[in-house]
Amino acid sequence: MVKVDLSGAGSFFTAAGPDYALAGLAHETLSSRSGLGAEFTGWLELPQRVRETELEGILAAASLIRSRSKALVVIGIGGSYLGARGAIELLKPIPGPGDPRVFFVGNGLSPDALGDTLEQLGDADFDVNVISKSGTTLEPAVSFRIFRELLQKKYGAEADAHIFATTDANKGVLKSLAQAHGWTSFVVPDDVGGRFSVLSAVGLLPMAVAGIDIVRVLDAAEAEFKAMDLRSPENPAWQYAAARQHLYGKGYGVEILGCYEPSFRFMAEWWKQLYGESEGKDGKGIFPASVEFTADLHSMGQFIQSGPRMLMESVVRFTQSRRTCPFPVEEENADGLNYLAGRDLADICHVAADAVRDAHVSGGVPNIVIEVPRRDEEGFAALVCFFELACAISGYMSGVNPFNQPGVEAYKKNMFRMLGKPGAV
Ligand code: PA5
Repeated sequence: MVKVDLSGAGSFFTAAGPDYALAGLAHETLSSRSGLGAEFTGWLELPQRVRETELEGILAAASLIRSRSKALVVIGIGGSYLGARGAIELLKPIPGPGDPRVFFVGNGLSPDALGDTLEQLGDADFDVNVISKSGTTLEPAVSFRIFRELLQKKYGAEADAHIFATTDANKGVLKSLAQAHGWTSFVVPDDVGGRFSVLSAVGLLPMAVAGIDIVRVLDAAEAEFKAMDLRSPENPAWQYAAARQHLYGKGYGVEILGCYEPSFRFMAEWWKQLYGESEGKDGKGIFPASVEFTADLHSMGQFIQSGPRMLMESVVRFTQSRRTCPFPVEEENADGLNYLAGRDLADICHVAADAVRDAHVSGGVPNIVIEVPRRDEEGFAALVCFFELACAISGYMSGVNPFNQPGVEAYKKNMFRMLGKPGAV
């Protein structure tokens, strides 16, 4: 399990402190499937379910793609791509020899971004994993048509064998197309919403293609969900959910998630969607933002330290680095850095993180530390399970349905009408 350290938040709490009793009730509401959106809580069992159903197929598809292609083009938006991208950038920032490159498209409508990907792809052999639960989202659908055409030009009659569709089990345009063309298909389960789907084929197939050990991820995730069923204020998910709701009640309406590993950037994007879409509704919600440390201390540090006091800060810290980097001694010491000589960069980074926490706390920013041992499959699984569970608990504590996203439809309605989609009003 991750460890949550609230010592940098304690001085901002009222005497009563975070409401762990309410966190416990919210946890019970979730596990008894008696709350709003209970029909979308299947993510709690995804690790076991995937092992019993699609794991073999996912591994077989990944090994086929790895053996024949230099690239996988993943087409999806929101929950249909952020988890996989977060995992791959966190765990495999540099592809190993033999790892196909994984490109993410269909997460916007920029012709430049699409063209850049096509240019990078060149004439490399590639496969496509199109991911859309509804099967009707415009952004991925537009990219998919373009990449299908490319596949047809490149592989002719074999094009269909290069398409892997991850979509609803029974309905939607993508499902119908997959059936009609015989594409290898995987399922986004009915009871799992996009932003909670990273431990299904949605996240697992791209991760496996990138060379991530998804069996390790699933094993760790199953153990994590079990461990976090703990009904006590010792549960890190309760601690995080209750602390942020307590601080929200005191006027801290923005949460910045920071990390000292640049490879965490897309995990933070995944987290923003998870919390933003789950909590931001009914006129309520903590606005999720992200920062990359130490880089952003030189851009956002001023605002964090002394701007309006509405920020709470959560920082993910990996206790062990993957690499070592001892800082060299230099006889002349012309740069005056010999006071650091002999120390490892990891140690210097940890000290910097402590210094930043103390500075921000003294500047009026409550600080929550989320500690993870390593940047590996187990660490990734621990973060996913922790953030998902805490998100559901936090959402129920604030009285919203954490599993719907009615607000996302507003722009779609306008866009379809303005683009002239038949039947759009
Ligand atoms: O969390 C969600 O449900 C959404 O963010 C979806 O993942 C996103 O809108 C993409 O939808 P779809 O997978 O249906 O294309």
